[in-house]
Amino acid sequence: MDRIVIRGGRRLSGFVPISGAKNAALTLLPCALLTDEPLTLRNLPRLADVDSFGHLLNELGVSTMVEGSRPEDFGRVMTLRAAELTSLVAPYDIVRKMRASILVLGPLVARAGSATVSLPGGCAIGNRPIDLHLKALEALGAEIELAAGYVKATAPEGGLPGGHVIFPTVSVGATENALMAAVLARGTSIIDNAAREPEITDLARCLVAMGASIEGIGSERLVIEGRQRLHGATYQVMPDRIEAGSYACAAAITGGELVLGGAPVAEMAAVFAQLAEAGVTVSEDARGVRIAAPDRLRPLTVSTAPHPGFPTDMQAQFMAMLAIADGTSVLTETIFENRYMHVPELARMGADIQVRGRVVVVKGVDALVGAPVMATDLRASMSLILAGLAAGGQTEVARIYHLDRGYERLEEKLRAVGADIERISNG
Ligand code: UD1
Repeated sequence: MDRIVIRGGRRLSGFVPISGAKNAALTLLPCALLTDEPLTLRNLPRLADVDSFGHLLNELGVSTMVEGSRPEDFGRVMTLRAAELTSLVAPYDIVRKMRASILVLGPLVARAGSATVSLPGGCAIGNRPIDLHLKALEALGAEIELAAGYVKATAPEGGLPGGHVIFPTVSVGATENALMAAVLARGTSIIDNAAREPEITDLARCLVAMGASIEGIGSERLVIEGRQRLHGATYQVMPDRIEAGSYACAAAITGGELVLGGAPVAEMAAVFAQLAEAGVTVSEDARGVRIAAPDRLRPLTVSTAPHPGFPTDMQAQFMAMLAIADGTSVLTETIFENRYMHVPELARMGADIQVRGRVVVVKGVDALVGAPVMATDLRASMSLILAGLAAGGQTEVARIYHLDRGYERLEEKLRAVGADIERISNG
């Protein structure tokens, strides 16, 4: 299995191009199921998860064509076409590798009247049930059956009628599934307590480009007037705010200065506010956002929350950064119950971190030391990379397939700004 080896202690400096957003890509790809016309997505990041989603769509009968992109380019253009659906089943083999596969359920049942999806696996960050997805589709008129590890959704004769979805708690994926189903329902639907993540706005804008009628985009109430059919479109995937935030942490933890090319500034307010609180200078630059770190960071008190709050997908990276801050920080994870798998690994590198339920107390130490560590999930893996960039000596991160799911050409981007980092393949 591949490993990443980092010799830490170098200040990073320079320009990092920010890729298309993984989480936006994973909800834009299944939009192809909603029409028999071509959907062209630009700025799709080159990631294992995007490839897996493409394969899943191929299984369902969607053709995918990548346009002449050169290997050295970041991002690519993909045209998807679901002229005819040849299968309505998302099999276990694909779904277990990528939780986001559940996002085919809504569009498939809306377009084809029936869909069967294996119960998902994916990142090991807690239980991660799909009950909210299923209740939302039920509210839109689907019948749901669970059997033998699969969930089957069926629409009544003539298609989903549409309905009123009221989410008891905010869920990004369930909001996306509900929205993709509602756009092809027969009547008007309302989604209350919708998630407001920027990736949902991106999804809604793409659906509108395909002919959908959606009001309240960006708010917690979405009103959708169902259409009989949607048409093809060309849509540009938004830049990745979590990738940008991760590189901001790379600048901060190494006392460096980076310009994040094309970072989505407006969508990153909570992360930038916390960085500023820690003493990092965040300023707009003609090419993106400039992040300039002080010699020593101040400690923080941070609690994760749905957007526009501080994203859970940045918690692990902030923890690594705060491990060498000048004082004691307190981090609270409110979204996922078990998202602290990076803690023992960071501790192996000399971090002083205590977990008390959902609250973590991080006592800043003077320095981290390189060590062999193991990646456990996508963002946890990034926190180990960050710790390795700051640590004295050599850090070896194993199980890096997690990173390949979500960071486009990580080593290349980091090497270009001065990191001593390489991937070692064990064949
Ligand atoms: C998405 C993101 C992920 C991010 C998360 C929260 C993608 C592909 N992934 O994941 O990177 O960390 O949003 O911002 O976009 N829940 C239920 N029942 C459900 C669905 C969710 O109880 O049916 C719970 C989850 O266990 C969690 C909370 O709701 O505690 C929020 O999860 P959700 O917003 O759905 O996350 P995902 O869409 O899976």
